[in-house]
Parts: sequence; structure tokens; C-alpha cells
Amino acid sequence: MSHQGKRRGEDGIGAVIDFLLANARLVLGVGGAAVLGIATLAVKRLIERAGKPLDGEKSDQKLMDSWEELSLVSASPKLLKKGIEGVVMKQIVAATKAHKAELNKSSEVPEKPNSKVKRQQLCVTLQERLQHYYQSHAVLSVEDVNKAQQQALDICTEIQGFLHTKHPDMPLGEMHLGGSLVDDFQVVAADHACLLVPLQIEDSLWQLIPGEDTILGNPQFWMVRRLNLEYFPRGRSFWDKYSVGGYLSSRLIVEVLNKTVMETMNWPSLSSTLDCVVRPVLGSQELKLEVLNQKSHLFISILPTVQLNDTVLTAQLEVTGNFDNLWYQSFYTAETTKLAELDGVDGGVRKKCVKILKTVCRSSPSLRRLSGQHLTNVVLHLSDKESDWTEAALADRFQQAIAEIIGYLEVGCLPSYFKQTVNLLSEFKEEEIDEMGFLLYCAVSEPEMLLQA
Ligand SMILES: *[C@@H]1O[C@H](CO)[C@@H](O)[C@H](O)[C@H]1NC(C)=O
Ligand SMILES: *[C@@H]1O[C@H](CO)[C@@H](O)[C@H](O)[C@H]1NC(C)=O
Ligand SMILES: *[C@@H]1O[C@H](CO)[C@@H](O)[C@H](O)[C@H]1NC(C)=O
Repeated sequence: MSHQGKRRGEDGIGAVIDFLLANARLVLGVGGAAVLGIATLAVKRLIERAGKPLDGEKSDQKLMDSWEELSLVSASPKLLKKGIEGVVMKQIVAATKAHKAELNKSSEVPEKPNSKVKRQQLCVTLQERLQHYYQSHAVLSVEDVNKAQQQALDICTEIQGFLHTKHPDMPLGEMHLGGSLVDDFQVVAADHACLLVPLQIEDSLWQLIPGEDTILGNPQFWMVRRLNLEYFPRGRSFWDKYSVGGYLSSRLIVEVLNKTVMETMNWPSLSSTLDCVVRPVLGSQELKLEVLNQKSHLFISILPTVQLNDTVLTAQLEVTGNFDNLWYQSFYTAETTKLAELDGVDGGVRKKCVKILKTVCRSSPSLRRLSGQHLTNVVLHLSDKESDWTEAALADRFQQAIAEIIGYLEVGCLPSYFKQTVNLLSEFKEEEIDEMGFLLYCAVSEPEMLLQA
């Protein structure tokens, strides 16, 4: 048993390595080192799965056997890792050489004729499948979008009026709708909207302090400091009553809006006027309303914002956590504007690519934490490297984006396009990264698996 087990165990590892290499060749663009890490990670996942009791499934006995035996061999994980690294490395060097030679003169490469044809077929199919997936899963109907926007606007008008009667002296800019619902970035369902509440702060009395210059040193979080307190004492600015220790407190701002709007407005009355049910979402760190219609469900987030010069900050306690004086720097507008600009110049499909990726991630529990922000940044970075964003290149760019995401996950860092020091993956746990990396890694050789949901 043990002799046979050992032999079959080696076969099992062989199968795993084959699988890894098949993908490694496809993600070569990410760079050898990144591939190695992800490959090792994939093996780790296989081993973990092999270690778990499999409840009586007999569907793929052979594969299960090899996984089980893999877990026996992996008694020395270091050795296993070393072995795999050795093999993968050799293959990568060979594949890189072949790749370069192919670029030099494609006829010189003794490539298996089958694999190329197969890959071309795959691309054609993938292209079609992406188009179909986009139309059937991502795109929202115009009526749904208009209806959601109209409802959000109606509620916006009510809130603005109510706030004005409660706090006539509160210096607020015009409240307005923002976010993906307005910019045609929303996918799957028109189910969330954002109401921006601009606080007008005096630029002579307040200054925005970039995160790098604060004690926390986090480049994404800013502080809003009160200036010239000795000449213009407390009370000179309306917002002084919401400041703590000389800084405007995002928490106090959210609290006052929670008290004035969420807890005080007559929601049942508004609901009957608007012919739907509008109510605050309790127990949330966000100022959030839920709107129930006969068939649809809409969430509206109310977001206080502060803007000086070109810097837009939002009060988002769910992001800034326990730090009452932190403000989150939003690049949303810059990012979406840039993407639209690039597409506008060459009639490209960058936005379409982002929307497909967004739909994929939203539909998969493992990938759900990859948000529109992450995906927009991935596509913006990719736009710096790739100039062909024509419709015909959609499948290639989609696959490339997947490979790029794997690369970012591997190093645990996705730099924000507009602020390199901000790492958009910084909040992710290691297990989450593993999970996402593993799934996407498997999808490299079979991207269709992402389009099934
Ligand atoms: C590509 O071709 C050039 C000259 O034709 C040669 O010097 C170079 O070594 C080739 N590179 C590879 C990777 O084969
Ligand atoms: C806005 O920009 C001006 C000049 O460009 C600068 O003097 C001022 O400090 C900036 N304000 C803030 C709040 O950063
Ligand atoms: C607003 O107050 C309610 C309780 O009345 C609470 O459940 C909710 O979490 C609060 N929202 C925020 C954003 O603090």
C-alpha cells in the first residue's frame, strides 16, 4: 500500500505541477517571481483541500486520490515547495526563451500545432461569451436606472429641504446624486445610489492635512485642521462645533446627520408621498436608507464631503474605523473621468471591461471584495501598457486584466492610479487574498468559468 501510494502520490504531484505549468505559461507576463508565488499558493490550497474530509463524493476518485496522497507527501512542505519551485522555474525559463524566439520569428518555434488552434478557438468563443455576458448580466435597463435615479433625487430634495429647516445656518452646498448609478458604472441591478452632502468650509479657516503628514502615516486618510484659532476663535466657523482637538471630526458630522435626518424625518409620511417604503438602515456605520418598491430594492448612502482645491474627502466611518478625525480621500471622480476620457479618445472598451469584471466579482463570493474601485484602477494601469482597446481586443484585455490582478494579489499591493502610495489591497486579509488568487489563477486557463454565474 505504501509503495503503491508513494508512486501514485508522485503522479498526483505530477498532475498538479502540470496544471500549474499550464497556467504559469499563460501568466508569464506577470513575471517569473509572481508566478512562482502564486503557483506555490495554489499548491497550498490543493493541499488544504486534500486535508479536509470529502463527504462521500466519488465523482473524481482519481483526482481525490492524488490530492490525498499529495497531503501525505506534503509532510515536508518545504521540500515540496522547493521541488515545485525547481520544476516551475526551469519551465518558466524555457517558456520565456520560446516566447522571445517566437516574437523574433514565429515560424522558428516548434510549437505544438494543436495548442495554438485551440487557443484561437478559445479566444473567439471567449470574445462572444464576454459580449453575451455583458448584455445579459452586466447591463442595466434604462427604465430601471431612470426610476432609481428619480427616487434617489426625490429623496434628496426632501432631505435637503428638511435639513435646511432644521439647521438654516448650516453651510451646505447643493446636495446631489453621485456614484456608479449616475456614471453608468453600475452592473447587475440598479440597487444603490449615493447622495453627496458637500460641507462648505472656509478655506481661510481650515486646511487639509495629507495622510502622510499625520500620526497614522496612512496616505489615504486625511485630516481637516482648524487654522488661526488665535485670531478667529472657536465659533467663527459654523463647523467648529463639530471639531475635536482642532480637527473637524468625521464622526461628529455623521452623528449630527444621523440625528437630524435619519432619526427625525417622518419616513412613513415620505413613503406614502413617494409610493414606496423608505426607511433608515439601523445598526450601520453608514448613513444608509433603504427604499422598497414592489419589485426592486434600492439602498441610498448619504455621504458628507469636504472639498478644498482638487482634494475631495468623504466621511466614511466604515472605512476610517475608530479614528474620529479621519477623512477618506476619494478618487472616484478622477478615476471614472480618466477612464471615460481614454475611451473617448479611441472609442475603447475600457469601461465595458471594468463592468464585466465588476459583474464577475459581484457574482462570486470569493471575489466580492474586489470592488469597482479596484477594477477601475487595474484597467487604468493596464491602459498605460496597452494601447489596443478596440472591441476586437476585449477578450485579450479581459484575460490580461485577470493576470494583472493575480500579479497585484501576489505582492499584496495594488497602487492607486492617482496616488501610488495608496495600496488598495491594504485592508485585505491574507486568506481573502489566497482565495481570490486561487480562483483567478484557475481562471487563467479557463476564463469561461468566471462567466457562469
Ligand atoms: C533575435 O534575432 C536577432 C537577430 O536576428 C538575434 O541577434 C537575437 O539573438 C534573437 N533573439 C532571440 C531571443 O532569439
Ligand atoms: C489650495 O491651493 C492653494 C494654492 O494653489 C494653496 O495656497 C492652499 O494652501 C491650498 N489649500 C488647501 C486647503 O490645501
Ligand atoms: C444612527 O442611529 C441609529 C440608532 O438610532 C444607529 O442604529 C445607526 O447605526 C446610526 N448610524 C450611524 C451611521 O451612526
